[in-house]
Amino acid sequence: MAKRRRVLITGITGQDGYYLAEFLINKGYIVYGLVRRTSNNPLIKFEPNFSLRREIKIIYGNLRDLNTIRNALQESRPDEIYNLAGQSDVGISFLCPEETMEVNYYGVGRLVNEAMRLNPKIRIYQASTSEMFGQAKPRQNETTPFNPVSPYAEAKLKAHEDFVVGYRERHGLFICSGILFNHESPKRGEHFVTRKITISLVKIKLGLQDCLELGNLDAKRDWGFAGDYVKAMWLMLQQKKPEDLVIATGEAHSVREFVEAAAAVLGMRIRWRGKGTKEVGVDARGRVLVRVNPKFYRPSDPYYLCGDARRARKLLGWQPKVGFKDLVKMMIEADYTRLEKEK
Ligand code: NAP
Ligand code: GDD
Repeated sequence: MAKRRRVLITGITGQDGYYLAEFLINKGYIVYGLVRRTSNNPLIKFEPNFSLRREIKIIYGNLRDLNTIRNALQESRPDEIYNLAGQSDVGISFLCPEETMEVNYYGVGRLVNEAMRLNPKIRIYQASTSEMFGQAKPRQNETTPFNPVSPYAEAKLKAHEDFVVGYRERHGLFICSGILFNHESPKRGEHFVTRKITISLVKIKLGLQDCLELGNLDAKRDWGFAGDYVKAMWLMLQQKKPEDLVIATGEAHSVREFVEAAAAVLGMRIRWRGKGTKEVGVDARGRVLVRVNPKFYRPSDPYYLCGDARRARKLLGWQPKVGFKDLVKMMIEADYTRLEKEK
């Protein structure tokens, strides 16, 4: 019988960790997950429906602490590592640049160094990001110059250059970056804009909230489904040679369009009035459902991220299955089902 492959997932309590763990367990992997002692994320620890929970071997650790990383690697002895752990909130990175650099840059260095020392044949996936393109013109692909505009993007880009490209070229390590564009799901963190919109509009529909406050309505993002994207991560580590790849749908929508699409699923039609910070979204009866609050503006914000994933399609045979409308519907329906019960 073939030996079961072993994998260590950092960031397993996050959105991508959830879908990747499920995917790899179904592929027959022995899955270890690095979890912070302070994590209160319900995905893995408390969610009663996550039946795969008992199959995941939890190891406590933190990317800020070399000793815990060493222990995790010794205990799990992985063939593959997916480094999904990170301070993943771009807005927060302007408030906590040091924490962001500590986890998203130095943390990657600790993990990669230690993993290579223990097993030079290890394969490592690094969660890089379309934010590294910043204000570069769409559609962005593997040849587009990086142009980061946030502490988050700067830390991720430095980790990509030093520990992914650098270690691959200098040490021959099998390591690659997935340059993933935004991907969402019903498990998305509640402070990201898509989930904030779906939860708020459902609450408005159920009479639990009056209004939704947002920042930049014109920012465009290429939103895909997280469940599709974790497959690309795995495929990247199954190739003969490691290569950094863009993973995206190739279709972008503005925050405003996301609001309209989400409201439509709930049978509400939003019309926009006013400009700038005075702009509001009103329903058919003229009730203000959406307002702009400058508190949610960022000092700088990529205005248009839209990926060209043709290389991933060619090398991996990967393409997304869930389109924009179905993604929005999936998220609204999940939040409606949950919040209606709580009402
Ligand atoms: P997420 O839901 O915010 O999850 C982040 C994970 O990192 C959580 O499990 C968190 O644990 C863990 N973490 C944070 N700091 C840590 C530390 N110091 N040590 C160990 N674990 C730590 O993010 P996601 O959406 O799943 O994204 C996964 C990764 O892909 C992130 O690195 C993100 O930057 C990157 N990425 C995401 C997207 C996207 O659209 N989702 C696109 C491109 C790249 P706790 O439960 O303890 O908080
Ligand atoms: N979070 C948030 N909250 N964003 C808002 C709001 C709001 O109230 N109003 C407008 N936005 C705009 C942001 O300014 C940004 O332009 C866009 O909505 C998306 O914001 P987020 O959902 O917070 O995601 P992100 O694009 O900044 O970052 C996500 O995707 C990256 C990949 O491109 C995160 O998952 C990152 O970890 C990931 O690397």
